[in-house]
Amino acid sequence: MAGMLPNYFDGDVAKRYDDPEDAMFSPEVLGPTVDLLVDLADGRAALELAIGTGRVGLPLSERGVPVHGIELSEAMVKQLRAKPGAEKIAVTIGDMTSTRVEGSFGLAYLVFNTIGNVTTQDGQVAVFENAAAHLEPGGCFLIETSVPIVRRLPPGERFAVFNHSDEHTGIDEYDVATQQMWSHHYSSTDGETYHRRTIPFRYAWPAELDLMARIAGMRLRDRWADWDRSPFTGDSVKHVSVWEKVGG
Ligand SMILES: C[S@@+](CC[C@H](N)C(=O)[O-])C[C@H]1O[C@@H](n2cnc3c(N)ncnc32)[C@H](O)[C@@H]1O
Repeated sequence: MAGMLPNYFDGDVAKRYDDPEDAMFSPEVLGPTVDLLVDLADGRAALELAIGTGRVGLPLSERGVPVHGIELSEAMVKQLRAKPGAEKIAVTIGDMTSTRVEGSFGLAYLVFNTIGNVTTQDGQVAVFENAAAHLEPGGCFLIETSVPIVRRLPPGERFAVFNHSDEHTGIDEYDVATQQMWSHHYSSTDGETYHRRTIPFRYAWPAELDLMARIAGMRLRDRWADWDRSPFTGDSVKHVSVWEKVGG
């Protein structure tokens, strides 16, 4: 199954993924991220869906939380495996909509907008169901993802620029009828020639994710605007949401 899915995180992308200049790799972002995950794990094991190169899983493991990852891209896992401490993390190659791993977990988590990499509603529901199936009663599923920025689109407009510099221009394209979205990245090393990479997403509002959680037997426990547990408001551009498994 995993081999049948398109892989947007293959060899070259995986080699370039870890970028110390990117804020997502900074202590300012990773510190509060790992603090919150340690609290939610509460002494139990954690399952990272789409663990990638271990940006979050490795520092979480270093804090003493047993971490198991599921990941589609062998190239991303190869990068993880080259890092100190990776031997403590078990990784299963597979699709997070259906891949099961041994054991049960106090926490499952899926960060960095990755729920949107699953581009159908059925697939996203399957991610919630698969996360719930791995949780102990009372266990939590956490998602970090953007709030769709369609409010910035005037009627009839499909495109919104989210970054513009000599090295990189990022443009999101939205189809509001189907909730499909494409992130177009134009990257350059010389400021003259650009390489384009397009990744498809399915965007979903927080309320739709709450319904997916209910289908999977979970209920919303907390929703914050960021890892620092700041309040989620109508102006929040992202959310960190936590659902708790109900009953057995
Ligand atoms: C933006 S990266 C995030 C990686 C890591 N969690 C992090 O925070 O740095 C998205 C990851 O999701 C993985 N991925 C995408 N679809 C997947 C799927 N259906 N099952 C498992 N992994 C998937 C990609 O291969 C990639 O490693």
